[in-house]
Amino acid sequence: MSRTITVIGATGHLGRLAVEALLERGVAPSDIRATGRATERLADLADRGVQVLGVDRDDEAAVADAVRGAAAVLLVSGTEPGRVEQHRRVVEAAREAGVEQLVYTSGPHARGSSVQLLADHATTEELLETSGVPHTVLRNAWYVENYTAQVETYRAHGMVGAAGEGRVSLAPRREYAEAAAVVLTTDGHLGKVYELGGEARTLAEVAAVIGETIGQEITYTDVPVEQLQQILAGAGVPAPMDAVLADVDRGIADGELLVPTTDLETLLGRPATDLRQAVEEALV
Ligand SMILES: NC(=O)c1ccc[n+]([C@@H]2O[C@H](COP(=O)([O-])OP(=O)(O)OC[C@H]3O[C@@H](n4cnc5c(N)ncnc54)[C@H](OP(=O)(O)O)[C@@H]3O)[C@@H](O)[C@H]2O)c1
Repeated sequence: MSRTITVIGATGHLGRLAVEALLERGVAPSDIRATGRATERLADLADRGVQVLGVDRDDEAAVADAVRGAAAVLLVSGTEPGRVEQHRRVVEAAREAGVEQLVYTSGPHARGSSVQLLADHATTEELLETSGVPHTVLRNAWYVENYTAQVETYRAHGMVGAAGEGRVSLAPRREYAEAAAVVLTTDGHLGKVYELGGEARTLAEVAAVIGETIGQEITYTDVPVEQLQQILAGAGVPAPMDAVLADVDRGIADGELLVPTTDLETLLGRPATDLRQAVEEALV
């Protein structure tokens, strides 16, 4: 029986990988509705028979069209200020459409976290809970790609952070995407909150592994949070993101981005890829 799965955010990295993971798990292309604004990025998926729909999350009617008739929806959290309102729009549309499962990508320990970047996730989880929409929360820890994407900066300046000896749980995006595909295609996940993450490493260790992989030593310099904020501002990160991003390192230092669970391994049915291999995949 045909069962449509809508992916809100398929034009982004994680959503794209989730569509690929659904296809790999045998979901028929015509049962996947891939949505986002930049649909030109989805042309190859359309060629493979995936439904592609242009959806701006600020457009209530477009969001309703994206969700209508879907049995399940993967809501990839947004990137922009005001994203909670966008999430609310999707949750409300899912409620009205009678969606059977809404899967939301949240952040580590979102409801109890003091990390500023995660506040929107906490709010979204709360509105999901009060909506009555059957749902599953995927609290994704950090992407390895958050660091590998900055390799050119590290080559030039080394890595600078404020995380001290704190460890952050890491996995490649594709494994969070695969976990999403698993909960969208197997039973038993309604009402569950999964804390997903792989290997936990200090930022100094992340720098060292990146350095060993690219054959150039990458130093890690630890600075106070306020200094990191100033460095980010100096590099062009606008306020308040400079403070919000510096606060992530404060969160790592305090252990708030450490996910000591085996949820990811359980959903994948195998251990998560370790840091060294994930860095090699990204950079070699
Ligand atoms: N756990 C982590 O380490 C980590 C790191 C970074 C981000 N995140 C969170 O995880 C999410 C997924 O990560 P990612 O790397 O896949 O992010 P990404 O590549 O930036 O993708 C974000 C998606 O949001 C969509 N989007 C944003 N505003 C939209 C709007 N108004 N209407 C329609 N689509 C909109 C983008 O669509 P268009 O491009 O088509 O507009 C894109 O598909 C991010 O959005 C963020 O909430 C987590």
